[in-house]
Amino acid sequence: EKGNYRHFMQKEIFEQPTVVAQTLSSYIRQVSQSVTLPQMDFDLGGINRITIVACGTSYYAGMVAKYWIETFARIPVDIDVASEFRYRDPVLEPGGLSLFISQSGETADTLAALRHCKAEGQTIAVVVNVPTSTMAREADLLLPTYAGPEIGVASTKAFTCQLSVLAALAARLAVLRGRMDRDEEAQVVTHLVEAPARLNAALDHDDEIAQMAHLIAPARDVLYLGRGPDFPLALEGALKLKEISYIHAEGYASGEMKHGPIALIDEAVPVIVLAPSGPLFEKTVSNMQEVRARGGKVVLISDAEGIAEAGEGCIATIEMPRVHPLIAPIVYAVPVQLLAYHVACAKGTDVDQPRNLAKSVTVE
Ligand code: M6R
Repeated sequence: EKGNYRHFMQKEIFEQPTVVAQTLSSYIRQVSQSVTLPQMDFDLGGINRITIVACGTSYYAGMVAKYWIETFARIPVDIDVASEFRYRDPVLEPGGLSLFISQSGETADTLAALRHCKAEGQTIAVVVNVPTSTMAREADLLLPTYAGPEIGVASTKAFTCQLSVLAALAARLAVLRGRMDRDEEAQVVTHLVEAPARLNAALDHDDEIAQMAHLIAPARDVLYLGRGPDFPLALEGALKLKEISYIHAEGYASGEMKHGPIALIDEAVPVIVLAPSGPLFEKTVSNMQEVRARGGKVVLISDAEGIAEAGEGCIATIEMPRVHPLIAPIVYAVPVQLLAYHVACAKGTDVDQPRNLAKSVTVE
C-alpha cells in the first residue's frame, strides 16, 4: 500500500535509506569491518574476466559496476545490453564470470543471455530482487537485493540496492585479488555503512526539487551530463525523465558534449550536470561553461564545495552531501529520481503506470 504517499514511485524513492541498509547488512560484517558474499562453490578470486549483461536501469547499475570493478579489482569488464549481447556472438573466454542484473529476474532478453552464457560454460552470477525468480534459480551465485516489492514501473529503490550489492562485490573481488588491504576494506565498509544516512540527506531536498521541477516541465528536450561512475547516472536520469514525464532526454558523458550534442544547446534546453567535487570536477566545469556560453541553462547537482566553485550562473543547484566516490552514484540517484518524479507530477502524467511500459518485459 501507498500509505501517506501519492504514488508508489514516491514511496519507493523514500524507502531507499531503509532498503539500502537492509541490503548492505547482508554484505557487510561490521565487527570485522569486512565485506562478505554468500557461499559459492567456485573460486571467485580466480576469475579473469567479467561480462555484465542487463537492460534499462539494471544496465546502468552494471555500467557503474564496470568502473568500480576495474578501478578496485583491476579485472577487465565487458558490458552489454541484453538484446544486443544475444545476437552478436560474444567472445566468452574460459574462466569467465557472467553477471546478470535484474530487478524482476524474469526479463526475457537478460534470461536468454544468461542461458547462452551458461551453455558456453561461463560461471553465472545474478543480482536480482526476486529470490524466487527464474534467474535466481538458474545462477551459480545469487546476490540478492533486499529492496522489497517494487511496484512503480520506473525503477528506483531496486537500482540503489543493486549498486550497493555491486559495490560490495567490487570490494570483495579487490580483496581476493590482493588489490585492497585490510585498512582499505575497512574504509570501504565505513563509507558503505554511511550510505543510508547520506541518502536521507539527499531526500531532504525533496521540496526544493519539487519547486525546481517547474523550470524543467515546459522543456521539450533535456540533457544530462556526468563523468566516470556518474556518467551512467546521467543516462539513468534521462531514462527516468523520459519514462514518466515523456520529455525527450539524453544522457551524455560530459566530455562527449562537444562532439555533437552541443549543437542542440539553446535557452530552451536545460542541462542537468551531475558532478561531485573531486579530481574530474574541473573538467566538468569547463564543459558547463561551454554550455552556458551558448545560452544553455544549467542545473548543477554537486556538493557544497562544487557548488561554491561553479554554482554561479546556474539556474538552480542541488546540494548533495560530500561522499566517497564509491557511494556517490548511490546518493546522486536520489536527486535524478526526485526531479523526474516532480516533473511528471507537474505535467500530470500517470507516474506509476506510464504509457506503453510494462514493469517486467518478459517478451523479446
Ligand atoms: O527487471 P529488470 O531489472 O530486468 O528490468 C530491466 C528494465 O526493463 C527496467 O530497468 C526498465 O528500464 C525500467 N522501467 C527503468 O525504470
